[in-house]
Amino acid sequence: MGSILVLGGAGYIGSHTVYELIDAGEDVVIVDNLLTGFKEAVHPKARFYQGDIRDRAFMDSVFEKEDIDGVIHFAASSQVGESMKEPLKYYSNNLCGTEVLLESMVAHGIDKIVFSSTAATYGEPESIPILETDRTLPTNCYGETKLSMEKMFHWTSVAHNLRYVSLRYFNACGAHPNGKIGEAHNPETHLIPLILQVPNHQREYISIFGTDYDTKDGTCVRDYIHVNDLAQAHILAMNYLRNGGKSDIFNLGNGVGFTVKEVVETAREVTGHPIPAKEEARRAGDPSTLIASSGRAKGILGWKPQYADLKVIIETAWKWHQVHPHGYKAD
Ligand code: UFG
Repeated sequence: MGSILVLGGAGYIGSHTVYELIDAGEDVVIVDNLLTGFKEAVHPKARFYQGDIRDRAFMDSVFEKEDIDGVIHFAASSQVGESMKEPLKYYSNNLCGTEVLLESMVAHGIDKIVFSSTAATYGEPESIPILETDRTLPTNCYGETKLSMEKMFHWTSVAHNLRYVSLRYFNACGAHPNGKIGEAHNPETHLIPLILQVPNHQREYISIFGTDYDTKDGTCVRDYIHVNDLAQAHILAMNYLRNGGKSDIFNLGNGVGFTVKEVVETAREVTGHPIPAKEEARRAGDPSTLIASSGRAKGILGWKPQYADLKVIIETAWKWHQVHPHGYKAD
């Protein structure tokens, strides 16, 4: 069998997926432009090509040099706030990048792709838990580009010999239990790494954005899913396509929601630090509650999340952040 090409394999979820693929015995090729990924996160056993998926000649050269069986595509911009300030960056990297990628894949007869999508494709949910068949009405440009990418895969699969699986993640978090790789963004905007900056003496308190939502303690509810469980879902999705599975879309979450205050409290338990919190105004564009129904991923792909306990998830993140308080930069 040929190799798996992981686009964005030096990023947070991409690097964790590469580690799990190599542990599962796969031969892995990585493409990453290192704009948001880190060379240090590249698995030493993967073959690494630095370049941009928008560069057709570069993508063609990778497909010509390597024997690629299928592609897992993480190479996209993923910050909601940034997408509202720089929408064209998102259209360029996410949509134009995927268009060039698909041109190159079709030209080289590569017929399988697993793709990172997001709960942001739904926008404000009509009902909880969210099903894959629910309305998709993104409230930000990031979610809009991911939804458009899904549609690009659909129409390409109708016209060409190509099948895809789109995985709509809820709130990815945690770090590989091996302690070698973890979550590092610059700037950091995600709740759990920001909370852990307090016991790491990088910030004095955590801001809680909004305490007047219609939830049990007034703060937003999210479905936190461990990055290794996401990684496993990509491997299952690729094997599903290898076994002839048809193109499909799956939610990935634990199906359990935690409020921002509950996440802060759990981090206090894990770290033994009081982690002061400051209640602030709502952050623009935050839906009050996002919880996945992941029944289809479990039933069809055979996905079984291993890190359903929020405390265990935060323990893995804390293990990484204690040793890497400045991400990969200080390594
Ligand atoms: N939050 C705070 N304080 C902070 C940071 C975040 O209270 O300092 C709150 C947010 O307001 C939100 C929750 O914590 O209610 C989670 O926020 P994150 O920024 O960690 O995650 P989001 O739910 O906003 O978004 C994440 C990904 C998106 C993805 C989305 C899908 O960043 O890419 O999940 O659920 F689209």
